[in-house]
Amino acid sequence: MPRKLFVTTALPYANGPFHIGHIMEYIQADTWVRLQRMLGHEVHFVCADDAHGAPIMIAAEKAGQTPQQFVAGVAAGRKPYLEGFHIAFDNWHSTDAPENHELARAIYTALRKNELIEVRVVEQFFDPAKGMFLPDRFIKGGCPKCGAQDQYGDNCEVCGAVYAPTDLKDPYSALSGAKPVLRSSEHFFFKLSDPRCVEFLEAWTQDGRLQPEVANKVREWFARDEDGRVGLGDWDISRDAPYFGIEIPDAPGKYFYVWLDAPVGYLASLKNWLGKLGLDYEAYMADPELEQIHFIGKDIVTFHTLFWPSMLKFSGRKTPDRVYVHGHLTVSGEKMSKSRGTGISPLRYLELGFDAEWLRYYIAAKLNGRVEDLDFNPDDFVARVNSDLIGKYINIASRAAGFLSKRFGGRLSADLGVEGRALLDALRAHGGIVREAYEEREFGKALREVMLLADRVNEYVDRHKPWELAKQTGMDAALQDVCSVCIEAFRLLTLYLKPVLPALAAKVEAFLNIPALQWADAQRALGHHAIGEYKHLMQRVDAKGLQALFDAPAPTAAPAPALPGGEAIAEEIGINDFAKVDLRIARIVAAERVEGSTKLLRLTLDAGEAQTRQVFSGIASAYAPEQLAGKLTVLVANLAPRKMKFGISQGMVLAASHADEGAEPGVYVLEPWPGARPGMRVR
Ligand code: MSP
Ligand code: ZN
Repeated sequence: MPRKLFVTTALPYANGPFHIGHIMEYIQADTWVRLQRMLGHEVHFVCADDAHGAPIMIAAEKAGQTPQQFVAGVAAGRKPYLEGFHIAFDNWHSTDAPENHELARAIYTALRKNELIEVRVVEQFFDPAKGMFLPDRFIKGGCPKCGAQDQYGDNCEVCGAVYAPTDLKDPYSALSGAKPVLRSSEHFFFKLSDPRCVEFLEAWTQDGRLQPEVANKVREWFARDEDGRVGLGDWDISRDAPYFGIEIPDAPGKYFYVWLDAPVGYLASLKNWLGKLGLDYEAYMADPELEQIHFIGKDIVTFHTLFWPSMLKFSGRKTPDRVYVHGHLTVSGEKMSKSRGTGISPLRYLELGFDAEWLRYYIAAKLNGRVEDLDFNPDDFVARVNSDLIGKYINIASRAAGFLSKRFGGRLSADLGVEGRALLDALRAHGGIVREAYEEREFGKALREVMLLADRVNEYVDRHKPWELAKQTGMDAALQDVCSVCIEAFRLLTLYLKPVLPALAAKVEAFLNIPALQWADAQRALGHHAIGEYKHLMQRVDAKGLQALFDAPAPTAAPAPALPGGEAIAEEIGINDFAKVDLRIARIVAAERVEGSTKLLRLTLDAGEAQTRQVFSGIASAYAPEQLAGKLTVLVANLAPRKMKFGISQGMVLAASHADEGAEPGVYVLEPWPGARPGMRVR
């Protein structure tokens, strides 16, 4: 019976581009999903931007945009990452979409009906300098549990404790630095301490659906004190205006705290996707066979194992069947911060021409089913890819295919010899171990198993030395047999690697002249079959080139002097030097994405001339084309035209950015004040 799987990854905050930690999570989930699909199971694999919350509202304000514009800009930059790393989500949605507003309100209303919502007046921190209630994330101080410094107001990144911002030691406003003052306001609470919730969660979290270490950790939250009271506190789910979020029904000026509507986004994205397929969401969710599975990182376990299942359960919905928790990726032993990536920019990785599947392979090779951090180490990366992937696996095909096509028209022999058949039987017999390892997210184990099988094939090749058989007369049949064994073995290894290396597998399928490999194909044989021309399948990693991936090392000893915008002011010039640059106001008549480029947008500009100009601008990660059309900007009008891969660029538009985009991402196109008209000179 095919399984019915609804799979998600965590919804990334729409406050900036993906970092390598996000990509790691997507590679894990995508690999698992691809295995399920190869096994013939039905999967809906969805994600969305987590659009709401005060940090995004504040970031948008800083960028001079509405929150909606801001998150649209971030969302517009997602595609090149997902396509580039072969992450096959069926749907990408947003928690600000109508489905999510509707579902979040419906869930809340059901909880309220169930008498699990309570209104209480709370004292909350207010920033007297900013004139607003301070969101949790913008109050910092010492963790009340473990004492760690500079922790956010909602939970501790060191010990994982969840608490109220007022519990922090020595709090300060991260917006203004001011010491916050207490003001009272009405808040809505989800009564997690209700005996029904406690009873439900104690069973739900301990019934084997969670990884053992996660279940143990979660159990700590239920520990009872001497009076037998459970340590599970009620959950504050409302925030006061101004807030970017979903307004609470019957409570004007009150919004759902972002973590209430964020996981609802899983359902909203699924609903949106099923709608596109013409399927009924309610019917789909009502199927008792349906398995709901969330892949998440270790920092958001409490939200997914306490709040989310309770919200679902007590609003009469299906609860998750599995919450698969992974550790965090570090880069050369260094922790990445939650909101900004350090070390490797995934987009730069692709732009530098590195193979996405090197990273997929490397990350998969280091992943297991437990909650362990894993480190991206450049030397280790080079070694694993070059020695395992290229040295052990790719070489099998390159050693055998040439002889077959040159000497036998690509035809395989059906009689493979006793030893060849035994080798292939052994490869087939190990398929179950590989499959189970993938199923349990023991990807490292799966790949080790595959590489051991590749070793066996290489030993077989070394024993039979096709390159010597090729020189001897009368050994044609033997040569064809040995090479045929290699190709059949290569097909099996490719099948086993396909969840991790989907694009490579597609190339191999084309070369072998076979339909897309499914897991069941392991039990078949190519038999009488002609393969196509061997084309180079994968490059080795160039260790030297890899260096370009890394940001300039952070200053260690003496901190560098503060530079405005991260960059020293350029050498002095005279007014005549400046006058050489002819800057003009231009209207962006049209803006489009450029096929084949993740960075560029093609702009059509009206600078008051007889004809419009075409300008390519590297702002695709920051703006959606539809945000730009119609706007005025500033053009360098006398810049020599430049021939690019995609066409000629006739000038340049001006934009601001920090010198170190790792330190402060974002590109901001210049826009004149109202009244400026196309063609006016800027001086
Ligand atoms: N928006 C919330 C999740 C809401 S889910 C309903 C959030 N967003 S996040 O962008 O900060 O993180 C998204 C996912 O990336 C989380 O699962 C998080 O654990 C994961 N990672 C963040 N940093 C990571 C690493 N360094 N390594 C691996 N995964 C990392 O939390
Ligand atoms: Zn702590």
